[in-house]
Amino acid sequence: MNQRLIVNYEGKPAYDIMLEPDFNMLAEAVSAIEIDNRKLMIITDSNVAMYHLEAVKTALSKNTQTVETIIFPAGEGSKSLDTVSLCYEKLIQSSFDRNDVLVALGGGVVGDLTGFVAATYLRGIRFIQVPTSLLAMVDSSVGGKTGVDFKAYKNMVGAFHQPKLVYMNLSTLLTLPDAEYYSGMGEIIKHGLIKDKVYYAWLKEQAEAIKRRDYDALREMVYRSCLIKRDVVERDPKEQGERALLNYGHTIGHSVEKLKELTLLHGQCVCIGMAAASLLSLNRGFISETEYKDILNTITLFHQPISVNGLSAEDVYAVTKLDKKMDSDKIKFILLKEIGNAFVDPTITKDEMLTAILTILE
Ligand code: GLY
Repeated sequence: MNQRLIVNYEGKPAYDIMLEPDFNMLAEAVSAIEIDNRKLMIITDSNVAMYHLEAVKTALSKNTQTVETIIFPAGEGSKSLDTVSLCYEKLIQSSFDRNDVLVALGGGVVGDLTGFVAATYLRGIRFIQVPTSLLAMVDSSVGGKTGVDFKAYKNMVGAFHQPKLVYMNLSTLLTLPDAEYYSGMGEIIKHGLIKDKVYYAWLKEQAEAIKRRDYDALREMVYRSCLIKRDVVERDPKEQGERALLNYGHTIGHSVEKLKELTLLHGQCVCIGMAAASLLSLNRGFISETEYKDILNTITLFHQPISVNGLSAEDVYAVTKLDKKMDSDKIKFILLKEIGNAFVDPTITKDEMLTAILTILE
């Protein structure tokens, strides 16, 4: 069974999110957005290329004679202005013009980077997201955030640029290594915690099916997470308010990610950050001890960490203060008012943060 969501931007339908069991509908979906006979550049990484490039190339060859590819080494290290520069060079060499289209085939790194190339090449060309990781499906491919890292700063350079289509072949989740698959669960648990307590309860009930990667459970889970993300980005596309709630767990999570020099996956760091943010919500009296423990149990149920070794609380605090989510001198912290309902709190003190950070250090 397939499913489709329409995403509005500035009040008008902007693109579809398609949930499919294979790549069979890709050519038709691309025709529907009127890019037939334009040049297509598939941008992907060395891992994804091994599994899915041929199938996507074959599907897209029905739309146009020119399907070219750029393959860069897999990993966060490639999410840089150097890779962006290589992409510009290849696009110029292949005479891509404003009417031609980029296709991001891969996980979050590929999607964010390709989106950024699309946002900036010739002042902006169209692009399609074909996410192949759980994290990219439920988070980064939806909502038009694009960008790359700059030196040690994650997502420091970027632009908002909406895709023309997000096409998910859910079967690609079956080839994901366990670590990457479960890392995607971080953003999914986050969706339940910040917006939908019924969904959060459903994730716990369906844990066995989700771990088995049962197709129906995957489809339902990706659909419900995309629905939450879609509704938030429609209401606040440029993160001027509500969209910041999607950063639950990311404030401390990003610091951990930076201090561990990217040896932990993004979703793992988000889970560690959510453990700290949940403790702050408990200490402020918003959630109960039972709910706090339940959140930690749910994170561990999906094989994600709630603590990290080798870091000092002062270092985590210092890096958090430097993070770009700071508004003047205050850290905009996302807390839970209750499970399924988050809010931005700019009043968290240094002592409160240090107490929370200490609970996540081994
Ligand atoms: N990943 C958070 C957002 O798209 O706003």
